Amino acid sequence: MYEDRIRRASLRAKVTTAEHAAALIKDQMVVGMSGFTRAGDCKAVPLALAERAEVEPVRITLITGASLGHGTDRILAEAGVTARRLPFQVDSTLRQSINDGGVMFMDQHLSETASRVRSGQHGHLDIALIEAAAIAEDGSIVPTTSVGNSATFAAVADKVIIELNLAMPVELEGLHDIFLPGERPGRAPIPLTRTEQRIGAPRIAVNPEKIVAIVITNLSDSFSTVGEATDATRAIGEHLETFFAQEVRTGRMPPSLLPLQAGIGSIANAVLNSLATSQFEHLTMYSEVLQDSTIDLIDSGKLDFASASSMTLSARHYQRVLDNIAHYRSKLVLRPQEISNHPELIGRLGVVAINTALECDLYGNVNSTHVGGTRMMNGIGGSGDFARHASLSIFVTESIAKGGDISSIVPMVTHVDHTEHDVDVIVTEQGLADLRGLAPRERALRVIHECAHPLYRGVLLDYFKHACARGGHTPHLLEHAFALHMHHRATGAMLAARETA
Ligand code: COA
Repeated sequence: MYEDRIRRASLRAKVTTAEHAAALIKDQMVVGMSGFTRAGDCKAVPLALAERAEVEPVRITLITGASLGHGTDRILAEAGVTARRLPFQVDSTLRQSINDGGVMFMDQHLSETASRVRSGQHGHLDIALIEAAAIAEDGSIVPTTSVGNSATFAAVADKVIIELNLAMPVELEGLHDIFLPGERPGRAPIPLTRTEQRIGAPRIAVNPEKIVAIVITNLSDSFSTVGEATDATRAIGEHLETFFAQEVRTGRMPPSLLPLQAGIGSIANAVLNSLATSQFEHLTMYSEVLQDSTIDLIDSGKLDFASASSMTLSARHYQRVLDNIAHYRSKLVLRPQEISNHPELIGRLGVVAINTALECDLYGNVNSTHVGGTRMMNGIGGSGDFARHASLSIFVTESIAKGGDISSIVPMVTHVDHTEHDVDVIVTEQGLADLRGLAPRERALRVIHECAHPLYRGVLLDYFKHACARGGHTPHLLEHAFALHMHHRATGAMLAARETA
């Protein structure tokens, strides 16, 4: 029974199959699709599109909120549908196509995509494809487990296709807060001063005349695959907890801390989990993705409110939240990613940002995206939005990767996503380097002593000593700066066997 969910009766005639809807997407079109970190993505039309591509060429520019679930990015890449992709992805097949040069990928700050789309920088948007829990009388739609860029896609696309997902509870209505900033120049300040504040509408406005197809689905999101906490991630969480306690003691942070942002992945999830047993009460989050740890913190009474653009949960947490969404609605809000990640708001709220690095260098520059300086991993996501504007910008990583063959602390990062100017604290399982108020030479010693793995401390200290002998504000030996990376490329390990033994 879907009729009750299409409250504008005239739109019921638009219900059709995924195949018919996919036929509206033509070769060379620009398509904006819902979906953010595997939540709230369209689950039927993209697959029908991939099937059609087997018989006729369809190559599109695909813009989303962030990553997609259900293997959609893999399926579209394998079918050759994805010609251009932005702003973020996590799929290994698509990653391969990007790194082979077959798919043109634009790695973009997640806060910026919507305004770029509105101003036409990515071409004219032909189709918006959006998952909904219901369609209201006026044609506006109730999004599901993410908002992402859907409000902008719906506003600017020529045509709108809706996937109405019956597996999503109608009680999702009221969870979302849809607000789009005004046009530039002369844009008014965004009137949000508290994480729990609602400043917009509960639904995404859509001109009903633009709705050309409604496809009925009944599928849950892909569940998150966040790994269990390890000794290393627990240690990172403990270092941060100690650090926060010290910030509170010295009066630099209130006892409830400041609104927290935590990046994707296992490390960030584990770090938040460690707060469940901490001394801190009345925590808040102003983040882009909510993971299991957010729900656990709410349930344990530690977290008062969480604002984000999507929720990406494991099977167990997902069901618990959707079955009790009316309860969680008073503790959570989902916003457009332009708002969840907006620099103005991150700065105003004083967000404490915790993101993950692939590698950090001695001076605090961070690479979050490019393995070996060239191969795209996922994308910068929201880490740059938060790191640059947070009141405190923290990066976490294990000190070694691949069983010790790689040091995450290197003399010079091979790609810079976050410059030393935007990085206040680096944490590994070895310890925490508070870099605030330090000059480059001081930062290097702190990073080596607090964060580097003991296997690599000697070689890093040696590099730094010789670099200092040569001089400079930020001492380097350019001819040796990537020696560890070169050794890894040649032999599969950054250090020769005798050095690691
Ligand atoms: N060189 C090469 N590979 C490295 C590495 C390095 N310096 N450091 C880690 N890796 C590898 C790991 O071995 C692992 O490989 P595997 O998948 O083959 O096991 C992989 O990178 C992921 O690392 P992991 O330690 O499991 O961390 P993660 O799952 O938390 O991901 C990032 C880390 C950086 C890739 C991820 O956080 C990311 O994409 N960040 C950018 C986007 C972002 O920060 N968004 C935040 C706002 S939500």
